[in-house]
Amino acid sequence: MYPKISVNLGNLVLSLSDALDLAFSSLAMHQQRTAFIAWELGKRAKLEEKRIENVFIAGLLHDIGALSIEEKKSLHDNETTATEQHCIRGQHLFKSNPWLAPCADLVRYHHRGWVTWEEPRDAPEVFDSQLLFLADYLERQIDRKTYILHQDQALYSRLKELADKQISSEIVDLFLEVSHREEFWLDLTSPRLYSLLLHNGPFQTIEVDINNIAIFAKLLSMIVDFKSPFTATHSSGVAQCSMHLAEIVGMSETEVKLMEVAGLLHDLGKLVVPNSILEKPAGLTHAEMAVMKQHTYHTFSILSTIGGLQMIAEWGAYHHERLDGKGYPFKREAHEINLGARIMAVSDIFTALAEDRPYRKGMKTENIINILQEQASHGIQDPHIVRLLLENIEEVRQSVTERQEQARHYYQTEVEKSE
Ligand SMILES: [Fe+2]
Ligand SMILES: [Fe+2]
Ligand SMILES: [Fe+2]
Repeated sequence: MYPKISVNLGNLVLSLSDALDLAFSSLAMHQQRTAFIAWELGKRAKLEEKRIENVFIAGLLHDIGALSIEEKKSLHDNETTATEQHCIRGQHLFKSNPWLAPCADLVRYHHRGWVTWEEPRDAPEVFDSQLLFLADYLERQIDRKTYILHQDQALYSRLKELADKQISSEIVDLFLEVSHREEFWLDLTSPRLYSLLLHNGPFQTIEVDINNIAIFAKLLSMIVDFKSPFTATHSSGVAQCSMHLAEIVGMSETEVKLMEVAGLLHDLGKLVVPNSILEKPAGLTHAEMAVMKQHTYHTFSILSTIGGLQMIAEWGAYHHERLDGKGYPFKREAHEINLGARIMAVSDIFTALAEDRPYRKGMKTENIINILQEQASHGIQDPHIVRLLLENIEEVRQSVTERQEQARHYYQTEVEKSE
């Protein structure tokens, strides 16, 4: 019924990078630009292709360990506090994904200054980490309100001040060679950089299958969930619940896998919502709710621009739509909300009500049942799905709890421990 799912690796990592930098305009494209600079330096240094690819992919996701918008902003504003923490977390997150694991140490050391490396400093890891150091530093120095060719000289001066201290002079010289072309600066600051990297960058011919998409989805779900201890296992729980319901309604093995991916990614757009709203102890104001409402819009817009994931985008992003047409933000009507999206909506409510929140403890099963039945009887949720959930409630709750316990364990050992 569904075509074989595969996506282009370059497109996938670029979209992830883009999603991580959506949070606010001063940060937009920070990681893409860092990757572009590091990639150009790697090519100029005539590194072997694999190393250039590693530097590129590390550049695209190097700040993955900065979980909240607040943390990303502090890095961007050059505050030196807690720099180490996002490098360590980033390294661990990279190690958890076989595609990213080879670049984990580059992420770990992207803020390590030249003189702090032990002699001899001629190892490839030192060189490649230093490429990223320069790329990340330079990108953060660019004034986004000033035309780039009016600030290149000032940027050179700042870099030269760091030579032989924070950055090896060899790499500063390499940068001068790369950047003497105006084209370099214009590409770097072009609003079309995404498409330039997509069409000219690495990984154009590598396709990733559904099992590997699931590996990336797992990584992304952790980044979304780990923003707050209250949501640390939410996407894992929703993925488990929606998989389970998909099996019960008789979806095929591939569709069940797709539901898992959609569940892992359903709240991807929460990357753009500040923690001050996500963790608010009481009900949201109208203005805060308006900020919150964009999260599924971004889930949809990120997933639907990764070619090949349209189905997953719909299943994941429609979980706040309602069958009576009063959901948000797409205002879909019942006939536009397909089975996968209906399952996702019920799974999201079930999982959320069972979890502790800043303003209440997780609810008992019978209270959750009452709420879902009420929503079904008012034409908000699909009564058939709600009935299937209720018929299997103990088994579903058990499997969701088990999966959330696994996620909680990872969170406690990898995130809380490093705080
Ligand atoms: Fe960083
Ligand atoms: Fe950075
Ligand atoms: Fe949501």
